[in-house]
Amino acid sequence: MDYAHNLRPALIDVSPDDAGFDPRDVAEASGIPLENVIQLGRNENPFGPSPRALEAVLDAGANRYPDRSQFVRAISSYTGFPEENVIAGAGLDELIASLCRLFLDPKDRALVFIPTYPYYELQIRLCGALPIHRPLFPAPAIPEGMSGDHKLAFLCSPNNPTGDLLGEEALRAVLESTEGVVFLDEAYAEFAGMSLIDLVLEHENLVVGRTLSKAFGLAGLRLGYAIAPDWIADQYRRCSPAFGISSWSLAAGVASLGDLDHMHRSVARLVSERERMKGAIPEACPSQGNFLYLETEERSAIVAEGLLRKGIAVRDCATIPGCGDHHIRVTVGRPEENDAFLGAYLGGIGRYL
Ligand SMILES: Cc1ncc(COP(=O)(O)O)c(C=O)c1O
Repeated sequence: MDYAHNLRPALIDVSPDDAGFDPRDVAEASGIPLENVIQLGRNENPFGPSPRALEAVLDAGANRYPDRSQFVRAISSYTGFPEENVIAGAGLDELIASLCRLFLDPKDRALVFIPTYPYYELQIRLCGALPIHRPLFPAPAIPEGMSGDHKLAFLCSPNNPTGDLLGEEALRAVLESTEGVVFLDEAYAEFAGMSLIDLVLEHENLVVGRTLSKAFGLAGLRLGYAIAPDWIADQYRRCSPAFGISSWSLAAGVASLGDLDHMHRSVARLVSERERMKGAIPEACPSQGNFLYLETEERSAIVAEGLLRKGIAVRDCATIPGCGDHHIRVTVGRPEENDAFLGAYLGGIGRYL
């Protein structure tokens, strides 16, 4: 019997989440041992979390269901927002998926300003809804007559993959020209040193998402949060699993937020490395994240493949709507990893020989 007819029709339009090259594939393609593969494809933090986070993980018990209240309190004091406005999830990706489920029915529409993080589109499609692409450049804008035709709009600042910041005026203009809810993804805010999170105080239709995967170096523990107006935070809590984040992740999060010096040191090193790399590659776009977006002379797939053969993983942006096929995204790594990338890229892989 074929049971596949039970699958939701919406799955037909879904492309799987593309996490870029798997380090094991890089090892295989390059013949370089896995431990020597240079992973600059996922915007991870090479310096890792605060040592206190790792100690907290060892101390957290495993027999009881997790309690997120201390983590929510710690985020409240980190952001300055009341606990009622803090919602948490197993990674920012989980919050994005849950918000889509709160707002999107089949055939609904959601705006995505491209090029940007492709996961929004995946989640919109999983709800059976339709992503509507609008250009991010020169500024995201909702054309007259379109204010009521979408339920959600997605923006990202600093934007993944391009690295640029959304201005306050541009965000206000979007918030005021839509009847929908705007999700602003600030996964990389700490690297930019600025945030538009305070606009949640003024706008009942703004949710700002953040993660501990980037500046705090906790990508493997899956911990994200968002600041939302009361009415959205209440609905989110009604619908999300009470025990969806593990005790270990929550303990690591609380400890990391108690050691902001570690995070600030790590961010300062990465920002300084980012600027050093940018200085060496004139075609790199200015970036406020922990990554650089480069226009390549050769097709990006060829450049990414060339780097792969040298044991270096970067993100080929050809699968990201709006990027075309001549852009790669390179994560800022440790100085010696960045040197290896610069040597390979400037030595010929990024340019016609
Ligand atoms: C813009 C953006 N949002 C969200 C995420 C996912 O964050 P998390 O690891 O917390 O799920 C990423 C990860 O790369 C990202 O680039």
